[in-house]
Amino acid sequence: KKRIGILTSGGDCPGLNAIIRAVVKYATLRGWEVYGIPRGTDGFIDFVHGKLNIEELKLHPHGYDLPGVLQGLDVLQFMSGSVLGSLSRGNPQEDQVTQDIIKGYEALELDALIAIGGDGSLDIIYDLAKKGNWNLVVIPKTIDNDVAFTERSVGFDTARNTVTQALYDLTFTAASHERIMVVQVMGRDAGHLSLHAGIAGGADCILIPELTPQLTEDTLVGMCEYIAQLRKDRRKFALIVIAEGVKGLNAEKDPYIAETLADLLKEKSHQLCSTEGDRYCGLNQIDTRAMVLGHLQRCGVPSSFDRILATVFAIKALDLIGEECYNRLVIWQNGSVESKSLEQIMPMIKWCHQEKTCPAPVDPEGFMVRTALS
Ligand code: F6P
Repeated sequence: KKRIGILTSGGDCPGLNAIIRAVVKYATLRGWEVYGIPRGTDGFIDFVHGKLNIEELKLHPHGYDLPGVLQGLDVLQFMSGSVLGSLSRGNPQEDQVTQDIIKGYEALELDALIAIGGDGSLDIIYDLAKKGNWNLVVIPKTIDNDVAFTERSVGFDTARNTVTQALYDLTFTAASHERIMVVQVMGRDAGHLSLHAGIAGGADCILIPELTPQLTEDTLVGMCEYIAQLRKDRRKFALIVIAEGVKGLNAEKDPYIAETLADLLKEKSHQLCSTEGDRYCGLNQIDTRAMVLGHLQRCGVPSSFDRILATVFAIKALDLIGEECYNRLVIWQNGSVESKSLEQIMPMIKWCHQEKTCPAPVDPEGFMVRTALS
């Protein structure tokens, strides 16, 4: 019999509850107990200070308080967010904080901890695990899909669908008003979400930090020319996706980069149109609008892929614990679930997190970029 702790850490995403549910279900089958640590590693601190009771997580065999025929429906995997909360995003700088977290783990007498997190959380939790001698297994989650060594993290697929749908929806208002719609997509320093959703949602231009680290005069002129050509050839509206990681003309991070680009494009196209003529004008002068999709990208009913990924990752994590094979990152590679030793991969993950880059290219074969350009 094992006592397993589970926590979610860092930015939430769809599929966290599906992982928690699968862990509790599979652990129960094995006769193990699962303890949900609320509010990330902060839960350990509150627990040692007696401010919080940490209870065993159980799935009710005969359902929740749902009415009528819905009695017994297992809703958890359909819900976005994290029932445990996902607060701790900072590094426990103070020694006392670290000590309290470690004491919390010990006081709960856990045999192992499943941490669900992205590369930032991994960086922090791995250090805590080393200091506290924890038996750790990590399940990767993030809409950014930027955890190195795994092709997919839980949450990415749902976010990709959400952004794709938003682009589709925006197409019609853009078309009706003959506008250029500039859409800012999350991803932190990575462009996976923008590239995938941009292609699936039919964007005309996709700017990602891996290919366009910052806006330049050349980028603007090229886009104006492209838009003008579009307008002459067949249509008067366009959709532009810009990943939030692309920096402004001054190479600074810009939280409103879509707005900046929309303004710059309008200004540049008007200027080129008056000085250079028809090549930059299209049929008439362009009008632009910016849209920041924001945290809606982290919401929504988890997609079937994310629910399945959550489930197979949870099973793998518990199997690793069953084999007493600890300090592993569960990963998705070539269509199957594997795991990697944290000790081996942490230097690279820490480097990615600190340098704000990921060695895994967004598009290793250049296939998607070619598709987008064709
Ligand atoms: O890492 C997930 C993510 O949604 C990024 O895409 C985004 O830059 C960031 O988190 C936003 O963080 P917060 O919720 O703290 O604003």
